[in-house]
Amino acid sequence: MNKRLVFATALVTGLLIGGFGGKSWAEGVSSLRGDRDIAEESMDPDLKRWQPDREPIPRQYVQQPPLIPHAIKGYKINIKFNKCLTCHSWANYKEKGATKISQTHFTDRDGNVLANVSGRRYFCTQCHVPQVDAPPLVENEFTPVQALKQHH
Ligand code: HEC
Ligand code: HEC
Repeated sequence: MNKRLVFATALVTGLLIGGFGGKSWAEGVSSLRGDRDIAEESMDPDLKRWQPDREPIPRQYVQQPPLIPHAIKGYKINIKFNKCLTCHSWANYKEKGATKISQTHFTDRDGNVLANVSGRRYFCTQCHVPQVDAPPLVENEFTPVQALKQHH
């Protein structure tokens, strides 16, 4: 270590010990919520009116993960169990009248086609989202690409 570095290190250490008197870094820092515990304020987010189950929702662009046209409250997805696959897997979709998961969901990131859903497609709600009956937060003039426009 050269002399300057030793000096700088000593200076910083001195400032830390002297300036903060060894107090915890977090002390005095408060979030926008204040110092209240999250659990004190959080509520079951069931304030929203989830849309009732319905027909598949038209897609807006190619490669869009289709929106979920039904409620998913209480549908667990964890390491042992995936509620979505009880209806959408290739084994179950026919009996449940659900759309079978896309073949792309079996391909891992290196392009290998697996026998089961790829890890990167396991957490369905990372990409597929249910819909609420609420006014849009911002105005949106997006229109679907011509190829996907539905003709009535
Ligand atoms: C109890 C059975 C069941 C479960 C569980 C279920 N779904 Fe569905 N899902 C359906 C049915 C039935 C449809 C509608 C199929 C139709 O009408 O063509 C559907 C439709 C969908 C669609 C629309 C497909 C499209 O082509 O537009 C998506 C996306 C979807 N579900 C995702 C999910 C996800 C994600 C989960 C888990 C959080 C889930 N589903 C759990 C039965 C289920
Ligand atoms: C990383 C994002 C991502 C994840 C995670 C994901 N999907 Fe998808 N999904 C997509 C996209 C994008 C499409 C449309 C393009 C395609 O078929 O790959 C799609 C298509 C679908 C479709 C429609 C297939 C069809 O033939 O029209 C169903 C049903 C579906 N996914 C269900 C699921 C279920 C169930 C899971 C969880 C096991 C899941 N997806 C996880 C992105 C995702």
